[in-house]
Amino acid sequence: MNISIFGLGYVGAVSLACLTRDGHRVIGVDVDATKLNLIAAGRTPVLEEGMVDLMSRGAASGRLAVTQDVDRAVRESEISLVCVGTPSAANGNQDRGALLQVARQLAAATRDKAEPHIFVFRSTVVPGTVEDVLVPIMEEVSGKREGHDFFVCFQPEFLREGSSIRDYDNPPFTIVGAGSAYPVEQLRTLFGSLPCEFIATSIRTAETLKYACNNFHALKITFANETARICEALGVNPFEVMELVCKDTLLNISAAYLKPGFAFGGSCLPKDLRATMYLAKTRDVDLPMLGGVLTSNQAHVEHAINKVIGSGCRRVGMLGLSFKAQTDDLRESPMVTMAERFIGKGLSLLVFDPEVLLSNLLGANRRFIELHVPHLGSLMRDDIAAVIRDSEVIVVGLKDQRVMDGLQRHLRDDHLVVDLAGLSNPGALRGRIVGLCW
Ligand SMILES: NC(=O)c1ccc[n+]([C@@H]2O[C@H](COP(=O)([O-])OP(=O)(O)OC[C@H]3O[C@@H](n4cnc5c(N)ncnc54)[C@H](O)[C@@H]3O)[C@@H](O)[C@H]2O)c1
Repeated sequence: MNISIFGLGYVGAVSLACLTRDGHRVIGVDVDATKLNLIAAGRTPVLEEGMVDLMSRGAASGRLAVTQDVDRAVRESEISLVCVGTPSAANGNQDRGALLQVARQLAAATRDKAEPHIFVFRSTVVPGTVEDVLVPIMEEVSGKREGHDFFVCFQPEFLREGSSIRDYDNPPFTIVGAGSAYPVEQLRTLFGSLPCEFIATSIRTAETLKYACNNFHALKITFANETARICEALGVNPFEVMELVCKDTLLNISAAYLKPGFAFGGSCLPKDLRATMYLAKTRDVDLPMLGGVLTSNQAHVEHAINKVIGSGCRRVGMLGLSFKAQTDDLRESPMVTMAERFIGKGLSLLVFDPEVLLSNLLGANRRFIELHVPHLGSLMRDDIAAVIRDSEVIVVGLKDQRVMDGLQRHLRDDHLVVDLAGLSNPGALRGRIVGLCW
């Protein structure tokens, strides 16, 4: 293919080197003339393992060119990859200056181009930037329509500095966010042979995914480092602890606990986090990230409470009271927190939880209800039909066949359902279904 690349920093230069190596004709554009001169001379503008060799072979291949003439670069290519920098502005926002400038230049260059050009934004951008900012600018400047006369997509880059050529050749996946099939198929031709899954999605999802990945990486590093600080205070070897953490590929290094849902609770996570924070306090260890976890969890509960109270409905039915499905354990259940808030706000409340029927409760859990939430005991019903019938808003905290059957049978069109559990097929239900964050 004929490819132009705008912005020849780490991402752009490595892409240029690898695409040239793979037999494509590549034309590089940058505002920095020094970088262009280096590339033209077969030298690398960035220090990366393998780049010296690839750049000299690229220059010798005759398939590589550089220019500051944007019109020429667009004219002589079918696809443009945009890899300009998107650094932090002073207020933390993204500095989109380079991106906006390139978008205008690219759009101006397509004005006279008859063939439909594909623009692939690879710079990391705040979600919404491509569709809400870049496409309108490009349509206005070019006088053409995206999706017809030219195509725009977003393909996040996952390479890491230091191992970028290896990462280019072995990405975790290739994600292409696009609004139409044509650019996806062209990018599949270009990147589909990489040894990973090729996934097409929406532009916004692809933009958001890049942030989710980077935030997750930052979170993981900070988790390991906070764990190391507490280990240091305890005289425990942090490498050994983290190596063992990583050996658990069932619950730790896995997809477990990574699905959006309701807040965590139960008899372990909150109390153990609290004990960790107390331990850190007594050892003068600062753990701001772990210390923020319970605060964030509480914010999630508040979010759910606000959705219910904000609806204006006065009669609430809760399906599920324990902290997760298939348990009768009510200790630190966020559903109990919600129920107590509703009662405190003077709403009328009925509760159905097949695992927490008072008549079946034993030992610790029965005592827990009698001691801590005796007022909830009297609001529990063993008939889901009665709870749904007598409520205006139904809060679903339990993903369970009995709950799904009850909803299917008894919901009316005037019901509001606040879904905290991630119901599998909400479209099959009557009433207005509102997800917690979805
Ligand atoms: N560095 C990484 O490991 C990495 C990984 C994944 C994604 N990203 C993202 O990719 C983007 C690029 O990152 P980078 O590290 O390669 O940036 P960089 O700062 O190394 O390079 C950006 C290049 O863009 C050029 N440029 C600026 N304005 C331009 C314009 N108007 N026209 C043409 N060129 C212009 C600059 O001169 C520079 O050479 C960023 O959005 C970054 O967040 C970076």
